[in-house]
Amino acid sequence: MKIAILSASDRCSKGECEDKSGVLIKEIMSDTAQTVEYVIVPDDEKEIANTLIRFCDELKVDVVLTTGGTGLAPRDVTPEATKSVIEREVPGIPQAIREYSLKITDRAMLSRAVSGIRKSTLIINLPGSPKAVRESLEIVKPVLAHAVETLSGNTVTCGGSYGK
Ligand code: MTE
Repeated sequence: MKIAILSASDRCSKGECEDKSGVLIKEIMSDTAQTVEYVIVPDDEKEIANTLIRFCDELKVDVVLTTGGTGLAPRDVTPEATKSVIEREVPGIPQAIREYSLKITDRAMLSRAVSGIRKSTLIINLPGSPKAVRESLEIVKPVLAHAVETLSGNTVTCGGSYGK
């Protein structure tokens, strides 16, 4: 599986802080995915959208994982950027993340993260803190291989039990 990581953070993009969350995504995914590119961009809707388009249309990665900018702050625009580039929404993913995360912290309800498909790439927003990244990937990571398989039109491991 090929992935790309986008970390949205004004401060980290200016070098004012270390982007622990993007690095953590790469580390957690390293046993199942090859990270083709990892970028830190400011919380700018156009810049995030253009980077997502490049990841999907040029790099053609299977999955893009974003971190940050999903909350309620005025500069939190990752969901808007994501919605502007996806062709089909996958609402079950953020729904599952929030449901799982709400058992850990009430603040999970403050993430406006979305997921969706552009061409043959699945884009998933994760919240910004390393803790939230770790918790969100606990529920999402086990499903990713099958998501990528179905997205590519290869549903071999899906069959078998239907209609029984
Ligand atoms: N989800 C999990 N699993 N764990 C967390 O600690 N933090 C929440 C929420 N989702 C959190 C979480 C908080 S405090 C916020 S403000 C929102 O994610 C949005 O975070 P973001 O703006 O950094 O994306």
